[in-house]
Amino acid sequence: MYYEPGRMDHGLRHDPFKSLVVPRPIGWISTLGRDGVANLAPYSFFNAVSTNPHVVMFCPGARRSPDPHKDSRRNAEETGEFVVNIVTEALREQMNLTSAEFAPGVDEMARAGLKPLPSRRVKAPRVAGSPIHFECVYLQTVVLPSDDPVTAAAIVLGQVVGIHIDEAVMTDGMIDMSKFRPIARLGGMDYTVVDNVFTMNRPDPSA
Ligand SMILES: Cc1cc2nc3c(=O)[nH]c(=O)nc-3n(C[C@H](O)[C@H](O)[C@H](O)COP(=O)(O)O)c2cc1C
Repeated sequence: MYYEPGRMDHGLRHDPFKSLVVPRPIGWISTLGRDGVANLAPYSFFNAVSTNPHVVMFCPGARRSPDPHKDSRRNAEETGEFVVNIVTEALREQMNLTSAEFAPGVDEMARAGLKPLPSRRVKAPRVAGSPIHFECVYLQTVVLPSDDPVTAAAIVLGQVVGIHIDEAVMTDGMIDMSKFRPIARLGGMDYTVVDNVFTMNRPDPSA
């Protein structure tokens, strides 16, 4: 089959796009509002995009009301910082709870029974229990093309200025996926756990 998004009906019950780019890592974004209230929400349009410098991005959609911008985007833009917490299998239920569209000013971390940990380089808190945290300084927002500029999705870019790694997920100085067990998003309401690893060396062009 072939379809052109936005121009042709794919004829399926759901747009398969999100089932096709899988698995998508989940950036669990913690921020502080201007009022100092902590905010936490998962984003699977999330990835690392560079190591020179270390840059990550997440991509909030928008809603029509009351404020079209999701809290994570607004807080990152207003305070100039955010933290990415990586979601493990053990934290999956809490992660899901924090995706509820609470009103701004509601501390999702507290609602999900999670404890904040102080960060070193930014004021936004880290999520206790997550073994990996990236402290990020906001770089820029790239607003994506849309017929409706109010509800346009956007890419929020941040430079990673501090990385925390819980040594409990390491073996012999390497990140051990069997201890880390990060989860990632598939299509529909499905997720996967990174628990099946294989190794391939790069081809040797002189061979
Ligand atoms: C696993 C998961 C991944 C999600 N990924 C995204 C995403 O990439 N972009 C988005 O706009 N919303 C995404 N959502 C929905 C947001 O988490 C939800 O709208 C949340 O209320 C936004 O919170 P905020 O306004 O505090 O930023 C996702 C939800 C879940 C459960």
